[in-house]
Amino acid sequence: MEFTLVFHSIIRWAILLFGAWTVINALTGLASKRPYSANDNRSSLFFMIFCDVQLILGLILLFSNTWIDKIKSGMGPLMKDPTNRFFVVEHGMMMMIAWVLVHIGRSAVKKTTPENKHKKMLVFFGLAFLIIIISIPWPNRTEVARPLIRWFN
Ligand code: HEM
Repeated sequence: MEFTLVFHSIIRWAILLFGAWTVINALTGLASKRPYSANDNRSSLFFMIFCDVQLILGLILLFSNTWIDKIKSGMGPLMKDPTNRFFVVEHGMMMMIAWVLVHIGRSAVKKTTPENKHKKMLVFFGLAFLIIIISIPWPNRTEVARPLIRWFN
């Protein structure tokens, strides 16, 4: 499980990197009115791939040992504890919403007209990126704080 947690922690940085790259591409594309390029497609493709990997790792973490035991012992008491509520409900749900937005965004960008592609990129990937940023258990967050970098003990 330590392996999964370390990777879940590290892959957050890949998501943030490719998410930021995608949003910057959308903004500069809109501002300069340049045509949608292979670079735009690549950034959002990597953003999506790392979100997919993170979702799988997150589900493994959630359905393994401690968390599943807490879920089994009842959602009522679990919801009263801010740390448990965050990891079992809030974090997982918000990240899944972001994951869905990234996937819808990829197909929306593909389907739309060339002049609308950067706009769609900004809406879907920008919103997903924002949700991800606010749902990460950053070290300054009381009760759910986690390290910026985690490594094997
Ligand atoms: C973009 C998607 C996601 C990002 C960026 C992300 C990021 C993180 C980070 C930074 C941590 C703290 C790691 C540490 O303790 O060092 C964490 C913990 C956790 N995440 Fe995610 N996460 C994502 C998606 C998900 C999803 C979709 C789920 C579940 C469905 C999930 C479930 C969990 C759980 C259960 C923990 C606590 C693990 C433990 O301490 O046992 N995550 N996540």
